[in-house]
Amino acid sequence: MGFPEQRLRRLRASGGLRRLVRENRLDASDFVYPLFVIPGKDRTEPVAAMPGVARRSPDLAVQEARRALDAGVPAIILFGLPAAKDAEGSEAWNPTGPVQEAVARIKDALPELVVMTDVCLCQYTDHGHCGVVKDGQIDNDASLERLALMAVSHAQAGADVVAPSDMMDGRVGAIRRALDEEGFSRVAILSYAAKYASAFYGPFREAADSAPQFGDRRSYQMDPANSREALLEVALDIEEGADMVMVKPALAYLDVIAAVSQSFDVPVAAYAVSGEYSMIKAAAAAGWIDERAVVLEYLLAIKRAGARFILTYHAVEAARWLEEANG
Ligand code: PBG
Repeated sequence: MGFPEQRLRRLRASGGLRRLVRENRLDASDFVYPLFVIPGKDRTEPVAAMPGVARRSPDLAVQEARRALDAGVPAIILFGLPAAKDAEGSEAWNPTGPVQEAVARIKDALPELVVMTDVCLCQYTDHGHCGVVKDGQIDNDASLERLALMAVSHAQAGADVVAPSDMMDGRVGAIRRALDEEGFSRVAILSYAAKYASAFYGPFREAADSAPQFGDRRSYQMDPANSREALLEVALDIEEGADMVMVKPALAYLDVIAAVSQSFDVPVAAYAVSGEYSMIKAAAAAGWIDERAVVLEYLLAIKRAGARFILTYHAVEAARWLEEANG
């Protein structure tokens, strides 16, 4: 069979039929909303490189989290900026740090909102690397216990999910063991399993004040040239106890999202990162693209590739646009 018997345009013709045969849908419940938390009270600092994004003290983070929940977004992920940095990143497991405080306040005010926390040392170390440094190298095994301390402190504050983004080998296992030993077997791990050494993280490093002070992250984050390696990373993380795995960035790595979601049965997340957000905001501000249409198209594409959910700075806006579109 072929043309003229087959005419694929038939199913595109009416809005109703188009909707009926649609293979993928985008919904507010697909999103996780990232928030940056700073110490103090009643403080907001806009992030210049990410229009619409701000750093907030824990009290104001609660308000922003409520806005997300009200828009139908089921989860947030918190990134912290500590009051002080040191070589070990020891503020990362300070029980009164901004993330710990924000987790507790948000869970108290909005118990049904899923609270995830990013587990990584780069915002907390004075050298800006994701692990501890020894002789100018990132010391994998010495980093594991610190990451585990950090994850446990987030669990103690009430986090539902911890999300290690450091890319040290063995960190998922170390975190799972530590959580279980401390009585947090209910806390889930979303592992940044296939995290690439990407230039698309540029604006985030301004937001989180986490740029490496020497060298770069290529000794621990993945080479953008590799996709088979992503499957190995994911397999190892699942073996170590990851409940969910993430591919990051999203837009330039749709093939990796597809490969991972076809090969594994755990939920696959994708992180639409800061550079993706800022590119869209800049082009939209210049009047070159229709932000709403572009965002809804590209987030849908990430789902089509196989992501079950998406971390995106557009979460609240996209949720509202979807609500308007669906009446
Ligand atoms: C911390 C971390 C980074 C991002 C999430 N967690 C930055 C990095 O690895 O340098 C990037 C998120 C974004 O760009 O939106 N390791």
